[in-house]
Amino acid sequence: MEIRGELVTLRPWRLDDVRVLPGVASDPDVARFMNHRFPSPYTREDAQAWIAGNSLANVQLHWAIEVDAELAGGIGLTPGMLEHAGSTMIGYWLGKRFWGRGLAGDALRTLTEHVFATDRLRPRRMWANVMSTNAASARVLERAGYVHEATLRHSIVDRHGAVHDELIYARFAAAPA
Ligand SMILES: CC(C)(COP(=O)(O)OP(=O)(O)OC[C@H]1O[C@@H](n2cnc3c(N)ncnc32)[C@H](O)[C@@H]1OP(=O)(O)O)[C@@H](O)C(=O)NCCC(=O)NCCS
Repeated sequence: MEIRGELVTLRPWRLDDVRVLPGVASDPDVARFMNHRFPSPYTREDAQAWIAGNSLANVQLHWAIEVDAELAGGIGLTPGMLEHAGSTMIGYWLGKRFWGRGLAGDALRTLTEHVFATDRLRPRRMWANVMSTNAASARVLERAGYVHEATLRHSIVDRHGAVHDELIYARFAAAPA
């Protein structure tokens, strides 16, 4: 299903994204702050595997971010399991030429509110982790109502071997007492 924000549309990944996804995603500046499962460089085979994997899911967890009918990036959920049930992680990225236009903020706000309001996952908490050097993403989270909860010191090693603090941000369906 499609979810409309003010600036972006979130829609299911589809087969014809294989053609454009590598061009949007394959930039070291995009991969730099992403977890190491995000391919870099991003090949056509990576795009095929990503879209095939998504088409098998019975609950939609990942959306393509579309702007003016163009693929601009991705946003997705990782629901917590077992004792973390109800605590859902959210992650997002945009191709570099789409940065600086408020698009990630719109995508994050739109999906967060959709998930809290209508999704059958119905989490009580949504959260994200950010490298401390990723100031733009921390700002995006704050603007979307996420609150800085913790800094895990020296928690992340990047693709070049440099160690970073990890910032944890969260937003709640209802404020915890
Ligand atoms: C992080 C990312 C998603 C931001 O996307 P974006 O659409 O450019 O973000 P927005 O335009 O919605 O907002 C960026 C905000 O950060 C601010 N910002 C940008 N660069 C900044 C910097 N170096 N330091 C501080 N703030 C910065 C902008 O001014 C803006 O704040 P404002 O809304 O108060 O004006 C995008 O840069 C990206 O995809 N990066 C690579 C992947 C990534 O890091 N994903 C997130 C992993 S946690």
